[in-house]
Amino acid sequence: MKKRAFITGITGQDGSYLAEFLLSRGYDVFGLVRRTSTVNFERIRHIQDQITLISGDMLDQTSMFRALYDIRPQEVYNLAAQSFVQTSWTQPVFTGDVTAIGVTRLLDAIRSVDPTIRFYQASSSEMFGKVQEVPQRETTPFYPRSPYGVAKVYGHWITVNYRESYNMHASSGILFNHESPRRGLEFVTRKVTHHAAKIKLGLTNELRIGNLDAQRDWGFAGDYVKAMWLMLQQDTPDDFVVATGKTYSVEKLLQIAFSTVDLDWKNYTIQDERYMRPAEVDLLVGDPSKAGTKLGWEPDVSFEQLVQMMVEADLQHLKAEHKL
Ligand code: NAP
Ligand code: GDD
Repeated sequence: MKKRAFITGITGQDGSYLAEFLLSRGYDVFGLVRRTSTVNFERIRHIQDQITLISGDMLDQTSMFRALYDIRPQEVYNLAAQSFVQTSWTQPVFTGDVTAIGVTRLLDAIRSVDPTIRFYQASSSEMFGKVQEVPQRETTPFYPRSPYGVAKVYGHWITVNYRESYNMHASSGILFNHESPRRGLEFVTRKVTHHAAKIKLGLTNELRIGNLDAQRDWGFAGDYVKAMWLMLQQDTPDDFVVATGKTYSVEKLLQIAFSTVDLDWKNYTIQDERYMRPAEVDLLVGDPSKAGTKLGWEPDVSFEQLVQMMVEADLQHLKAEHKL
């Protein structure tokens, strides 16, 4: 009999890659989708006939009960969140409700329906915030710097708590930034690659951006979803840092993206206060050695390859969209 996996956040970047990955492993894949006035299935359209979508919301626990009761999955991947850090300052309560309390709603629904279900929580390097150690590892203390980061710390600890209180197979992946051609346009990597491509094609002539000095450990989303799955295949639940171990500045991102289309980023980029944050996370760099040793996981795609892949994909999309 096929294994059944239930993914919240299936319409997002990671949800779409994870659904593809699980289908390739022979799973029956189910995804939670919330009601919207227009359909937003762009990232999963190519696999829509192979998966089952269930209507629900992280704010509505009855929809989770119903979904779990109907599907009876062996594995649940909780990827749903208000995931944009900047928005978490303008919508701090909503962010807490979805990204923090939503985890408890789901864990408690699992506990009631079938506590043997294996659970993955999408924890985040944003929890390290004002970093207390370099590089950051599983034992590094958290110091979140945004309402999003605070909500993720709650989600992380409630996962640990359900594991310890109810002996549930609940694991957290502390994932560092991961990107792809499917990344939302508001995140800095995609914003930069999309603008580099637009400028190259003569569709715009400037990019307004915030802090150029922030450093991130950026990997490829397609590599990272495999680590999620590996965590749920272990005999014992645990927490793992998933990262590349290398860090680059936003300025370096600009250099690589614009040089991919033979342009100098300095001629097109304007710093704009609107994209600065009330509190910044200056430096993230993860130590993925535990994931390497215990899960046998390592990333395949380098930062340069990732940025080039994203610029090339944006060029293709824009050419098709504008019939160029
Ligand atoms: P994403 O592209 O923003 O996707 C978020 C998903 O959550 C979307 O499917 C969204 O649905 C869904 N969602 C939001 N609010 C919901 C609600 N109230 N009820 C049900 N679904 C809801 O994020 P991502 O990059 O794939 O990240 C996946 C997870 O990993 C998130 O929890 C994120 O915080 C975490 N994470 C991401 C990174 C990263 O670098 N990408 C790193 C660490 C952790 P709609 O399509 O309807 O909006
Ligand atoms: N978005 C954005 N837009 N960020 C900018 C800009 C801009 O115009 N200019 C500079 N930045 C800087 C931000 O200040 C931040 O330091 C860095 O670029 C990365 O910003 P994002 O791409 O928005 O990602 P993030 O690091 O805040 O959050 C992402 O990674 C987390 C893991 O560390 C999200 O995917 C989170 O959901 C995830 O948990």
